[in-house]
Amino acid sequence: MSLPRSRFAVITFLCGVTIGAMGFSPILFSGNRSSLALAQQPESQKLDLASLQAEVERLKQVVPDQSHAMQDVDYHVTNLWFAAGQSNWPLAQFYFNETRSHLRWAVRIIPVRKDNAGREIKLQDILQAMENTPLKQLEEAITAKDHEKFVAAYQFTLTTCYSCHKAADKPYLRPRIPDHPASAMMNFDPNAAWPQ
Ligand code: HEC
Repeated sequence: MSLPRSRFAVITFLCGVTIGAMGFSPILFSGNRSSLALAQQPESQKLDLASLQAEVERLKQVVPDQSHAMQDVDYHVTNLWFAAGQSNWPLAQFYFNETRSHLRWAVRIIPVRKDNAGREIKLQDILQAMENTPLKQLEEAITAKDHEKFVAAYQFTLTTCYSCHKAADKPYLRPRIPDHPASAMMNFDPNAAWPQ
């Protein structure tokens, strides 16, 4: 369909006005002004490479260490045992997810460690093997709400936790089935009334 010539001219004119206005919009002006302001900054205030490196160093010092991330794993996987023990499967799924994501986080913090012979141990590979089998079985047991499978998969998981500790030359870090929850305030009972 062809537009009448006059309407076409009006539309073309309006488009021109809009594009023109955009070109001279205050947004673009302020953009130009800020880059101008940057150029006029005193030399001492400019973000140079040395100060950027210093900032990266500072940030490295405030990032939590691997042992901190592992304490989180300890917390989540301990609570997981009690959530499943009380058949609180949604809570068990929550603690399972947290365990897995904190294990991944721990491995991102230090991806490679040395064994006692000085050889490099890729923690990511060990975690991948753990995710492929024991953690997969653990999640399947939670989904199936199956206590027996859960206990077997949990024990298998702890065995692989320990395998990694041994591989990373820390055989004294021996996890075991927990005897009390890591959280003192979380209610593991799925049928608990609220407020208590
Ligand atoms: C891929 C390797 C790997 C896996 C898997 C792993 N860990 Fe660790 N874990 C480590 C390393 C390495 C350290 C020592 C960190 C350090 O020295 O900073 C550690 C330390 C710990 C600590 C001591 C933290 C502290 O400072 O008190 C606990 C507790 C722990 N792990 C629990 C677990 C549990 C539970 C699992 C299994 C659910 C697990 N870990 C799986 C590598 C692993």
